[in-house]
Amino acid sequence: MSTMRLDKFIGKSTEYSLADAKTCIEDRRVAVNGDIVIVASHQVHKNNVVALDGSVLTLRPFRYLLLNKPAGMICSNIDEKYPSALNLLDIDKVEELHIAGRLDADTTGLVLITDDGHWSFHLTLPQNKCAKVYHVTLSQPLSSGVAERFLQGILLQGESTLTQPATLRIIDSHHVLLTLTEGRYHQVKRMFAAVGNRVIALHRQQIGTLKLDISTGNWRHLSNNEVEILRGRYISAA
Ligand code: URA
Repeated sequence: MSTMRLDKFIGKSTEYSLADAKTCIEDRRVAVNGDIVIVASHQVHKNNVVALDGSVLTLRPFRYLLLNKPAGMICSNIDEKYPSALNLLDIDKVEELHIAGRLDADTTGLVLITDDGHWSFHLTLPQNKCAKVYHVTLSQPLSSGVAERFLQGILLQGESTLTQPATLRIIDSHHVLLTLTEGRYHQVKRMFAAVGNRVIALHRQQIGTLKLDISTGNWRHLSNNEVEILRGRYISAA
């Protein structure tokens, strides 16, 4: 945390909702470094002492989850045409979480979920080259030369820069594993469209060192070790 709004700090350190936190602030129940603050947007720093009714508050630790997303759910925080994948999480304060690196509604597989914006931002930053492995099912047999073209980078429709080198491992004529280090809009589908093929099923099975190890629709907490490995590889250096 560098700085955070005061109402958010209270939400993340008590059971109060953001709306309740604002009321506490307006009711003059909150002090920062001993002074009552009545502005919800007041920025607090990690070294500040925030107290509610005289009791010092401590932020809850960040949460890091791995979910095996089923088809027909979206990676947004709110339900739209399809329900949000966050509906699958039976835990408190789900609204504080977000998905790091989205999948399309019809794509299945590994998504990471957290309330640590710094961690997720750096994990999804193309410069940090965190590898994502997709199992791809194609409508047409894979034509020759596609692996080389993906390795060299291709120009997607409507874009002006080549895709980053991507590695293709061929399983059989209609199934491949594709490793990307960036996440452009509908990237896998558009890459195969650019070489005259069509993706009929897409499944993310790995992000960085993390492999999907739970069944569809299930989730688990990441271990501290898993969080720190990803942080060490893709985040600390950023
Ligand atoms: N590429 C796509 O086309 N869709 C996804 O969901 C992820 C990567």
